[in-house]
Amino acid sequence: MAQEVGLQPIPGYRLTKLLGAGAFGEVWEAEHVDSSRVALKFLDCRQQPSSLIASEVRILRALAEIKHPNIIPLLGVHAWGKYLILVMELADGSLADLHDTYIETAGMHVPPDHALELIEQAAQALDFLATLRLPAITTVRGLQHCDIKPSNLLLVGDRLKVADFGLCSGSGSVTHRKGWKGTLPYAAPELYGGAATVGTDQFALAVTFCELVMGSRPFWPSALSGDPPNGLPIDLTKLRDKEFPIIARALHPYPSSRYPTCMDFVQALRKVIVQPRPATPRLAPQSGQTSRGRRSSGRHRAVKFSPVRMGNIGPSGRG
Ligand SMILES: Nc1ncnc2c1ncn2[C@@H]1O[C@H](COP(=O)(O)OP(=O)(O)OP(=O)(O)O)[C@@H](O)[C@H]1O
Ligand SMILES: [Mg+2]
Repeated sequence: MAQEVGLQPIPGYRLTKLLGAGAFGEVWEAEHVDSSRVALKFLDCRQQPSSLIASEVRILRALAEIKHPNIIPLLGVHAWGKYLILVMELADGSLADLHDTYIETAGMHVPPDHALELIEQAAQALDFLATLRLPAITTVRGLQHCDIKPSNLLLVGDRLKVADFGLCSGSGSVTHRKGWKGTLPYAAPELYGGAATVGTDQFALAVTFCELVMGSRPFWPSALSGDPPNGLPIDLTKLRDKEFPIIARALHPYPSSRYPTCMDFVQALRKVIVQPRPATPRLAPQSGQTSRGRRSSGRHRAVKFSPVRMGNIGPSGRG
C-alpha cells in the first residue's frame, strides 16, 4: 500500500501533503472530516513479527499519556496493513526548517538569542521527562529522549514541542541489546553502547544549539561522516570564548560532569548570550519555501545509527 494524496488510511482522515520522510517512514499532513489537520507518521513494520508490533503499540499508547506544553501530543496509534500510524498534532515546521529559512531568506544562521529561547523550551520538556516514571517503559524513574536533534524539535507558532520519542528509554537502563542508537552527530558517547543516562539529552541539546547558531563550522568532519566518532563531535576551539566552557561542560564525555539538568545548561548559556542587534530578523519556518530534506550549504546531513530499530528495542518505544 503506497501513501498518496487523497488516501484515507484511517477513517475520516485524508492525506493532503507529504511533510517529509525519515529513517522509518513518511510523515503526512492529513485533514479530518471536521476540517482539523493533523500529522500522520507511518512506521513501516513489514519486517517485524506481530508480537513485537503488539508490544510497540502498548509502549506507544503509554507515551501518548505524556502531557506537557512542550511535548507534541500523540493523539492516537492505528494499524494500517503492516504499518503503524501515529496521529500527532500538526506543527508548522521543525528547527531544521527554521534554520533553512534563516539561511535562505536572511543568509544567516539562527541568532543565538532566538536559538536559546527555543532550546530553553526543549530543556523544560526534557527535564520533565527526566523525572517522569512510566511503568510501561521503564521501572526506573526518569526518561531520556535519546534522539534530540533539529528535525525532532517542532514549532507550533512560537512554541517549541519535542517530537519523536523513537528511542526514548529509562535513565541508566540498557534498552537495546547491542550496538548504538541515536543520530550522529547529536548522540552522546554513552549511547554508543546503547545506554542512556541523565545528561544524554543535554549533550544532544548542546550539539543542536551549536548547529543552529554556527552551522557545520564547529563540527569535526569525522563527526559528520557516519563512522562512530572517536571523540566529541565539536571542535571546541571554534566556539566563542564565553560559550566555550559552557558548551564544553554540556558535552563532557562523562555524563556526571555535565550540568545537573538541561535548564542548568540553558541558564548558564543565557548569562553569556549577548542581546541581538536591533536589526536582527526573527523568522519562523516557512513550509513550501524551504524543502524538507534538502540541505543548504551551511547544513550537514545527520546519520542515523540505530542498527535494527524495532528489533533492537527492549522496554522502550518509538515515535
Ligand atoms: N507532527 C509533525 N508536524 C509537522 N511536521 C512533522 C511532524 N512530525 C514530523 N514532521 C516532519 O516530517 C519530517 C520527517 O520526520 P521523521 O521523524 O520521519 O524524520 P526525521 O526527524 O528527519 O528523522 P528520524 O527518522 O531520525 O526521526 C521532518 O521534517 C519532521 O520535522
Ligand atoms: Mg523525526
